[in-house]
Amino acid sequence: MSQEIIIRRITAPEIRARKGGEPIVALTSYHANTARIVDNHADILLVGDSLGMVLYAMDSTLGVSLELMIAHGRAVVRGSKRTLVVVDMPFGSYEESPETAFRNAARVMAETGCGAVKLEGGVRMAETIRFLTERGIPVMGHVGLTPQSINTFGGFKTQGRDTALWPLIKADAQAVAAAGAFSVVLEGIVEPLAAEISRESSIPTIGIGGSRECDGQILVLEDMLGYNPKPPKFVKVYGAIGDAIDSAVKSYAEDVRSRAFPGDENVYTLK
Ligand code: KIV
Repeated sequence: MSQEIIIRRITAPEIRARKGGEPIVALTSYHANTARIVDNHADILLVGDSLGMVLYAMDSTLGVSLELMIAHGRAVVRGSKRTLVVVDMPFGSYEESPETAFRNAARVMAETGCGAVKLEGGVRMAETIRFLTERGIPVMGHVGLTPQSINTFGGFKTQGRDTALWPLIKADAQAVAAAGAFSVVLEGIVEPLAAEISRESSIPTIGIGGSRECDGQILVLEDMLGYNPKPPKFVKVYGAIGDAIDSAVKSYAEDVRSRAFPGDENVYTLK
C-alpha cells in the first residue's frame, strides 16, 4: 500500500505566532528553480519587487507591474511546497485607496496561489492594511527604508540616523501591527532602533540590514549567493554562484571551440 505524504504550507497565522520564538528564515525568490531549493530551508519565500532591479536591471522598483509580480509569484508557488509565499504589491497598485488595494491584492492571491501579500508604508497605509486583513488577505508590512519611496527619501538611505525621527519610524511599525499585519519587514533601520522596535512590537519583525534582535531575517537571494558583484554592505555572502557560473560557461565555451562538445552521449541517436 502506498503512503501519501501530505506537505502542508506554513501559514501567515503560524508566522504571527512565532513572535519571540524560533527565528524566522526568509529569502526572496523570483522563479521556480530557486523556490524549489529555498523551500527546503526557509519559512517564507518573498517574491519581492526587487526582481525589477535584480532580474530586469531596472534602476529602482518603481517600474515593476502587477502582471510581472503575478507571473513570478505563480512560478514561485509552483516551485515550492511548504514555505509561506508572500508576493510584493508593486508601486501604484495599492496606494490610491483601500478598495483599489483590495482589488489588486485579491488578483495576486487568486492568480498566484500565494499565502499573503506585502506592502510598503506605516501610518499612511494602516487603513488599507486593516481593509485587506478584515477581508481575508494576510498582509506583511514593510517600514523604514521603503524602496518604492526613494524619490521622496532622495535615495536608498539608512533610516534612523537622526534620533529625532525615531518616534515616527516606531509609530509606523506600531500602526502596521495595530492594523492587523502578521509580520513587518524592518529595512535599512539603524541597529539600536530596529532592536527597540523588535522588543516593543506585538508581531514578528523581519530585519534586512536591521538587528540580530529582529524575530527573523530576510536577504535578497542573489545578494547572499554571491551572484551580485556589488551586494549591499550589510549582506553576508554565503555562496560564490557568480564564479561557479563563470567557470562552467568558460568550460563549455572551451569544449565547443575545441570540438570536444557534443560528445557521443550528448547527441540524439536514431535508436
Ligand atoms: O523586494 C524585496 O526584495 C523586498 C525585501 C528587500 C524585503 O522587499
